[in-house]
Amino acid sequence: MIKMRMQVKKKNEETFWDKLGKPKYILAPMVDLSELPFRLLCRNYNCNLTFTPMLHAQNFVKHEKYRSGYFKKSDNDKPLIAQFCGNNAEIILNAIDYVKNDVVAVDLNLGCPQQIAKKGNYGAFLLSKHDEVVSLISDITNNCKIPITCKIRKIDNDYQSTLNLCHDLQNRNVQMITVHGRTKEEKGINIKECDYEIIKLIKEKLSIPVVANGSVEHFEDIEKCLNYTKADAIMCAEILLEKPYFFSNKNVDIIDIVNEYYVLFLKYETNLKYLKSHLFKMLYTYFQVHTDLRDMLNNCHGLNDYLNFQKILNEKRKQGTLTQSNQTWYRRYRKTL
Ligand SMILES: Cc1cc2nc3c(=O)[nH]c(=O)nc-3n(C[C@H](O)[C@H](O)[C@H](O)COP(=O)(O)O)c2cc1C
Repeated sequence: MIKMRMQVKKKNEETFWDKLGKPKYILAPMVDLSELPFRLLCRNYNCNLTFTPMLHAQNFVKHEKYRSGYFKKSDNDKPLIAQFCGNNAEIILNAIDYVKNDVVAVDLNLGCPQQIAKKGNYGAFLLSKHDEVVSLISDITNNCKIPITCKIRKIDNDYQSTLNLCHDLQNRNVQMITVHGRTKEEKGINIKECDYEIIKLIKEKLSIPVVANGSVEHFEDIEKCLNYTKADAIMCAEILLEKPYFFSNKNVDIIDIVNEYYVLFLKYETNLKYLKSHLFKMLYTYFQVHTDLRDMLNNCHGLNDYLNFQKILNEKRKQGTLTQSNQTWYRRYRKTL
């Protein structure tokens, strides 16, 4: 049964932002890609806050295998926010029960633009259903003690609807909103630069922390975005997949990073799909030149194949035979600068 709970703020209470440790650099939730070893890798390079990949609330509640496979934790990965998708408050509250002691907050995904979200009526497809989403959030925040945050996209090109929604989410006790400044159509080959104006307007309107997300490719882009939008922190996704060290503002040899990821992977994961997927992105600039290496990775199946691939990669580096293209994974759908 869903009940109503009144929130009373105590004087001098630690704010949610304090609890998060006032983060500046945040790793985005990414399906199949913000898994524990990758989160830990980014933390080694100045990332202050991490999100799990989007977890399907119903699957999470129903299947122990889904929970143990997709929600892995470590004391070294704190503060952590778990992200759920769904449209049923009771199910989401049940899912929250499983994670509430291991995370600092739970985020509701209101940004997923994929067809599967359209079919399931969740993610960005809830954004335009103002009353439904506000009532969903009310039912969640009134019935759990853990802070609730939301990650949204720009609603079509409708500033007013986006602002109204953010305002009402804040009124329903949402503690932080992350804004991806693109509409749900602006993805894949239709990707566009982010609209920072909407993030700026949301920040002006709200009193809770606002996190800016999107269009960060170079370290300087972070300050440009934060100076313009006045957002409290930056969240990055794609650039970290290619350069997990991005937040450190250092130039690190990506093969050293690959080796570091292997160590974390072997300690915390067994599902080889993560290893393959991350290696393709981290080594993308090499694979544009060394297609034989790309094919070798493509043909890796068991762990020994991957260890052999790592050995060959390091040998080639030692021999000085590796060259990188200037075509980056980040720019795969965009023009090379
Ligand atoms: C592979 C991939 C998976 C993603 N999965 C999620 C997800 O699970 N939840 C979510 O809210 N956003 C997800 N996103 C969107 C990112 O969190 C982020 O909002 C978007 O990529 C824009 O940030 P960027 O310009 O730094 O890449 C995903 C993005 C990518 C590239």
